[in-house]
Amino acid sequence: MRIGVLTSGGDCPGLNAVIRSVVHRAVVDHNDEVIGFHDGWKGLLECDYRKLDLDAVSGILARGGTILGSSRVQPAHLRGGVEQAKGHVADLGLDAIIPIGGEGTLKAARLLSDAGLPIVGVPKTIDNDISSTDVTFGFDTAVTVATEALDRLKTTAESHQRVLIVEVMGRHTGWIALHSGMAAGAHAIVVPERPFDIAELAAVVGKRFEAGKKFAIVVVSEGAKPREGTMEFSSGATDVYGHERFSGVANQLSVELEERLGKEARPVILGHVQRGGTPTAYDRVLATRFGWHAVEAVHHGRFGMMTALRGTDITLVPLADAVQHLKTVPADRYTEAECVL
Ligand code: F6P
Repeated sequence: MRIGVLTSGGDCPGLNAVIRSVVHRAVVDHNDEVIGFHDGWKGLLECDYRKLDLDAVSGILARGGTILGSSRVQPAHLRGGVEQAKGHVADLGLDAIIPIGGEGTLKAARLLSDAGLPIVGVPKTIDNDISSTDVTFGFDTAVTVATEALDRLKTTAESHQRVLIVEVMGRHTGWIALHSGMAAGAHAIVVPERPFDIAELAAVVGKRFEAGKKFAIVVVSEGAKPREGTMEFSSGATDVYGHERFSGVANQLSVELEERLGKEARPVILGHVQRGGTPTAYDRVLATRFGWHAVEAVHHGRFGMMTALRGTDITLVPLADAVQHLKTVPADRYTEAECVL
């Protein structure tokens, strides 16, 4: 068989582990040929690729980023390129394409799959917001990085008796904030699923100071917003991919909390450090298992499917189900976290 692989959307620790696993399983066990498209869907649309053999993937398991490069493609551009993509797949004699990506990539995968291309998707995102899979690789690394940062920030916050508002990634969902906040023992966690009331948040943090504590750490997802009518809030514009450009919730919270509490407050934005660098052991294993199962799915003709983790098993789920809605933080997970704040 001849298999094409690509990585698309925001990068994520573990992408190289999937690529390596696909090549090993395909080349060593099935005698397949693998090619890698450069810079995501763009590579398929422009027929820009390279051959991936065992040498090409040697030493990449622990490397962050993606050796193939990644990019975002505007949905309209991709819709207009379906015939072109089909033509390239036919010209290259590809039997299957394995796109590795998040929500946008998987939606594109579904579009191309519905158009008749043989596709098996692999979900990735540090945000952990893809439904139909318990976890996506990259999430554990992001949580580990954020937790380490929070541990470090606690000591400086304490020395200066400050409130530190730490902004983590999470466009629509608060998984990174929830997990890193719980792991580091943050004093408040603010997620997009629960619009915040600034008065309530100030009261929670204020109570801590009244109890004699000298500092506080608030973890906030970048996509968090105030409950309507409770605080003036500037939202960002939208980029060409339809994604909201955030305007700094931590900055805005820090100004408000400093004013309301009379305590020094500082915003800390962790940003892309959560996405860069080497994946954790957990993410390397999950990514490797996804790659292995994606190749098996190709050999069983299970097109239009995506690999998923269910409990400890890797299964296949329809791409159509995976892109229907985002996996948000359920209310009971937030309640559990609240009781240990
Ligand atoms: O989707 C993953 C993610 O890291 C989000 O958490 C974040 O909002 C977004 O990508 C950032 O994208 P970019 O790197 O394009 O700014």
